[in-house]
Amino acid sequence: KTYRIAAIPGDGIGNEVMTEGLKVMRAAAARFDIDLDFVSFDWANCDYFLKTGSMMPANWKDLLTGFDSIYFGAVGWPDKVPDHISLWGSLLKFRREFDQYINLRPVRLFEGVPCPLAHKKPGDIDFIVVRENTEGEYTSLGGKMFEDTDREFVIQESIFSRIGTDRVLKFAFELAQSRARRRLTVATKSNGIAISMPYWDERAHAMGERFPEVAVDLQHIDILAARFVLQPDRFDVVVASNLFGDILSDLGPACAGTIGLAPSANLNPERLFPSLFEPVHGSAPDISGRNIANPIAMIWSGALMLNFFGETAGHQRKNFREAHDAVLLAIEQVLRNGPRTPDLGGAASTSDMGDAIARLVSDG
Ligand code: NAI
Ligand code: MG
Repeated sequence: KTYRIAAIPGDGIGNEVMTEGLKVMRAAAARFDIDLDFVSFDWANCDYFLKTGSMMPANWKDLLTGFDSIYFGAVGWPDKVPDHISLWGSLLKFRREFDQYINLRPVRLFEGVPCPLAHKKPGDIDFIVVRENTEGEYTSLGGKMFEDTDREFVIQESIFSRIGTDRVLKFAFELAQSRARRRLTVATKSNGIAISMPYWDERAHAMGERFPEVAVDLQHIDILAARFVLQPDRFDVVVASNLFGDILSDLGPACAGTIGLAPSANLNPERLFPSLFEPVHGSAPDISGRNIANPIAMIWSGALMLNFFGETAGHQRKNFREAHDAVLLAIEQVLRNGPRTPDLGGAASTSDMGDAIARLVSDG
């Protein structure tokens, strides 16, 4: 099978890291006999908005339907287009319209990356945050009343549907089941948020009965956040609602040294729509155009894409797994031995680092 991938670089360093991501993906495809076909799109960026008045062509959904995935750089350039317009006009449309209800963020401490937490070494931090990506606290249900009077108030509703809750929990349990430690932490706040969170807990217990081998641990979000910092080695898979997951998925990578390395996957696990793989960082206007951005988050996101393809690749499954592992190994080696970009204390360029990783992937 040929895997068709829409490559959308977006703005700023999105373009620079995309070049390196494609370089490494092509090296992995060649070595592991995988057939990847990348098609680049020059919309979903702020220059396109300045030319046309919208972030994407009206038929964007048709243009992307049929692709196996979207490999995405970063969007946003506040001097050209306000961030809420660029983000809601592109990335957030992909997530919602393509029902990418899982947001997956691996967190790992690598050798060669200074850790802000005391006494932590590589191996101590190695977990995955699974965030619900379509409902929960982020809805547009609500409103303002009695505006500009003493009685003014706002209401903002949360939604926890049974389908929406069960599908993210199921994904997290399956993921935990597939890992060596088989441990799932469920973020909750059922002591304070007395309707939606007890429901979330109830669904988690019900799902847990289907996965007797997974050790489940419900933790309130406040102490859970504290433990990310104090005892990150406790965690294996962590599942959370949209808001809690948003916070944990930035806190986690920050605990592991830098969010400049952090990858993410926005998944539609049923594969009815393309899934989207992107670095966590944005377009970094402050360093854009200088060939100094760290390309690792983009490259690691590509590895997540290979892994996702591999899950349904039948007899080719092994090739994808090996390709993913080879990319991760190359990232580890470059973080340990260089070349390193300035954010990691080095003087190498974006392309030096991408070249080095691609070479390690090719040579094994
Ligand atoms: P940012 O992530 O672009 O930059 C934050 C800081 O981290 C900057 O100092 C930047 O130089 C540095 N940085 C980020 N990525 C780096 C990399 N790969 N290597 C080295 N240093 C790196 O966040 P910021 O400045 O808040 O946002 C800039 C634009 O990006 C805005 O328009 C924002 O809306 C957009 N954005 C887009 C995202 C996306 O497409 N998913 C995510 C976050 C922000
Ligand atoms: Mg966030």
